[in-house]
This record gives sequence, structure tokens and C-alpha cells, in this order.
Amino acid sequence: MLKRISALVLAGLTAMSVSACGGSSGGSSGGGGGGSSITMGFSQVGAESGWRTANTKSVQDSAKSAGITLKFSDAQQKQENQIKAIRSYIQQKVDVIAFSPVVESGWDTVLKEAKNAKIPVILTDRAVDSKDTSLYKTFLGSDFVEEGKKAGQWLVNEYKDGKDPVNIVELQGTTGSAPANDRKSGFQEVIGADPKFKIIASQTGDFTRAKGKEVMEAFLKSNPDIDVLYAHNDDMGLGAIEAIEGAGKVPGKDIKIVTVDAVKDGMQALADGKISFIVECSPLLGPQLMDLAKKVVKGEQVPARVVTEETTFTQEQAKQVLSSRQY
Ligand code: AHR
Repeated sequence: MLKRISALVLAGLTAMSVSACGGSSGGSSGGGGGGSSITMGFSQVGAESGWRTANTKSVQDSAKSAGITLKFSDAQQKQENQIKAIRSYIQQKVDVIAFSPVVESGWDTVLKEAKNAKIPVILTDRAVDSKDTSLYKTFLGSDFVEEGKKAGQWLVNEYKDGKDPVNIVELQGTTGSAPANDRKSGFQEVIGADPKFKIIASQTGDFTRAKGKEVMEAFLKSNPDIDVLYAHNDDMGLGAIEAIEGAGKVPGKDIKIVTVDAVKDGMQALADGKISFIVECSPLLGPQLMDLAKKVVKGEQVPARVVTEETTFTQEQAKQVLSSRQY
């Protein structure tokens, strides 16, 4: 009898602890992997691109295999939604907060609130411009300036023998976001050394396919002589391809296209000759994020910056790796 009562009490306690960890602001997941007592609040930027979808999946799958309970919220590309989500995670007393900040500025107040509540914060994918780096434990993600430089370097090599002006249009990512700022400055730094490279139009396409198409249509109407499109991600480049074809031009021939990300659809367009070159930006940050989360929750030291390893792809390389691409 005593045995039965103990078993019932144990079952009741287990049920209580599971529901206490359950996600109230979105889905939650738990599992094996040694992190079962950790709850992470994760605020995602949105679902603006193929890259973001792959990143969300990586975070959710990795939380499950690491045994970390995930409270997930999608901010729909709005900073105020991210701030609300972070405040709700603080109220819920999660063990660790991770987020990919939609823009770089304006985070100090909410990050101080997390610090005062003694909840460690991990920045993932995108950085903030806070001067006080004690407001977060680490920043895991790509070097976006380097990505911009790689795109610029490709262009410099491609036109190394030419003397004529090269007219470039640029589709920027979300205004104020780290990847838009850094990919622009890295690219500019490299092409700026040669005055033949001219950025004749530059506008945000918000990292989406629809906006990429819309802005490219406007570029094509007002600029008859575009040689190159530099798009800060594949999705905007893919939208622009539709606009270029709609204008009766051949993407990859009449207008060369260089993009960033290397998601499957982008790689397919590269293999098909519509895109000329892609700089990789890996969305598969989940496993490293969960490892860092376990360490910061235990109070262990972690590096202030963890940079993702990335490569670049030509059309030939895209043909070789396309079938084995994970995202
Ligand atoms: O922050 C990473 C960027 O965000 C990706 O390059 C882009 O596709 C996404 O929307």
C-alpha cells in the first residue's frame, strides 16, 4: 500500500514539474540529453526567409535532443514583440533567455531587467550594439562583415580585367539589423577600392522574397543599365530573379547576381546559372546554442564570441553539393 501511495505521489510530482515547464508563449519541447531541468525562453525574429525557417527548426530539434525545455515565440520582425517575449520569460523565471535581435539598437533596458533577475542571456545569429557587454553572456553567430567582404571579393575577381563602370544595385536586409548593416559595410569596403564599381541604387527588401521582387521591379524601371545585383539574402535574390525575368532579361547573364545564405532554393538557382555566387550563412546554430546554454546555466565560463564556420559556393560547387544540402 505504502509503495502504491509513494508511486502515486511520485507520479503527481512528475506531472507537476512537467506542466510547470510547459510553454505558455508558444510550443515547448523536452527530451533526453542531460539538460532536462533547464528551461530556455527563445525569441525568434520571425519567419521571413528560408534561412529563418531552417534556424527555427535547428533550435527546436536541438533543444529536444539536449533535453532542454523550450519556450518559443515568433516576433514577426517586430522589436516590440521581442521585448514583450523577453519580459514574459523573465516573469516566468526561465533559466536562460536566447534571442536573435531583429535590429541592433534599443535593447539595454530589457537586458538590464534580465540581468537584475539573474537570468543569463545568449545572443544568437544577430548582435546588439549595447556598450555594456555584461548584459549578455555570449554571442553565437556569423561574421556578417566577413560575408559582405566575400561577396565584394567575388565581384572584384569577376571584373578584374574590365575597365568599364560596373553598375550595381543592392537589396538590403531589414533596416537596422546587424546582417544588413554589416553585409553592406563589408561589401562596400572591398569594392570601394576601385572606382569602377558603382552602387547605383540600394534599398531594403526586408529579407523577404516578395519585397525583393517588388524593389527589383522598381530598380529595373529606373535603371536601364544594371550589371550586378547584390542581395543580402537568397530569398530577396530569388524574388529579384522573378522581376528580372518579368522584365524580359536573363538572370545570371544580363544581370549577375550575388547573394548570401546558401539555402536550398538559392543553391538550386545557383546550379541553374541564375545566381552567380553565394556566400554561405549557416542557420544550423541549435546544437552550439544548447551547449552554451547548459554551460551558462551551470555558471561556467563561455567565450564572449562564437563565430560560425562558413564557406562560399560557385555554380559548379552548387551542382556538386545540392543533393546533400540539409536546408
Ligand atoms: O540574420 C540572418 C539573416 O536573417 C539571414 O541571412 C536572412 O536570410 C535572415 O532573414
